[in-house]
Amino acid sequence: MGAFAPGAWTLTAEFSDRLLARLADAKFVVAFTGAGVSAESGVPTFRGAEGIWRKFKPEELASMNAFMKNPALVWEWYAHRKKLIASIQPNQSHTALVRMEQMFQQFAIITQNIDNLHRRAGSRTVYELHGNIERNYCITCGRPQTNEEVLRQPGVPRCPACGGLVRPDVVWFGEFLPEDQWDASVRAAESADVFLSIGTSGVVYPAASLPVMAKLRGAFLVEVNPEPTPLTERADEFLQGASGGIMSALVARLSAGKSGPPLTEQSLQS
Ligand code: APR
Repeated sequence: MGAFAPGAWTLTAEFSDRLLARLADAKFVVAFTGAGVSAESGVPTFRGAEGIWRKFKPEELASMNAFMKNPALVWEWYAHRKKLIASIQPNQSHTALVRMEQMFQQFAIITQNIDNLHRRAGSRTVYELHGNIERNYCITCGRPQTNEEVLRQPGVPRCPACGGLVRPDVVWFGEFLPEDQWDASVRAAESADVFLSIGTSGVVYPAASLPVMAKLRGAFLVEVNPEPTPLTERADEFLQGASGGIMSALVARLSAGKSGPPLTEQSLQS
């Protein structure tokens, strides 16, 4: 457990020698991300104080039943989220992970986020466990549709080919994860030397099983979160705080090399 006072993060930062040593030797580093990573871009989390599921019922908005019962309500909500996400930018956490991808022989992001911000930041290897809000498809013929196509249609968008209902290409509660993304994520978790779990409450399965899977396979498990989660007791290192500052500091430290001087506000901004 790192000796960090929450909030004093960006002034001087020290990472444990164990973490730096494991990163220095690592061939394969994996980052597992959740809504907390996008919170600093302005995307609300699900279970935080202002979380989405504190205001809305997931069973009324994020399930096939809800969609079939009231497609207009579900689309009103997804149209709002699509426009919000299109209006914001990736943050320091996203850019830090792009830089980490250049630092290691092998690097992968496994994300629960549907906001496409990792790709927009420039990350290349991204496994999307819960889909992507920039994609849509017809539930009858499967024809894909872009956000531009669906958002220009008034009301509930329909498939131009068969007239079927169109839905966002995201995983709703009770649905299976995309098999290819899940399989690739399991392979990555099982082969990781260092596994970073960043900005997730770790309560939604099967995604939440991946950090434990990695740890059981010998990965050094790091958790980054302002709050402890059910995963914290299993983590080899708990970095408590907002991921933007922590991930930027870690990348700056790795770029400066292990024995570099402690970091200051200036060096973090550079
Ligand atoms: N930096 C890092 N972590 C943060 C930050 C931040 N700036 N702000 C909040 N967090 C943490 C919270 O403490 C919380 O533990 O991010 C976590 C967000 O948890 P959830 O809202 O539960 O989001 P997530 O874990 O991604 O949810 C998993 O649930 O609703 C479904 O499909 C949806 O993918 C989602 C899944």
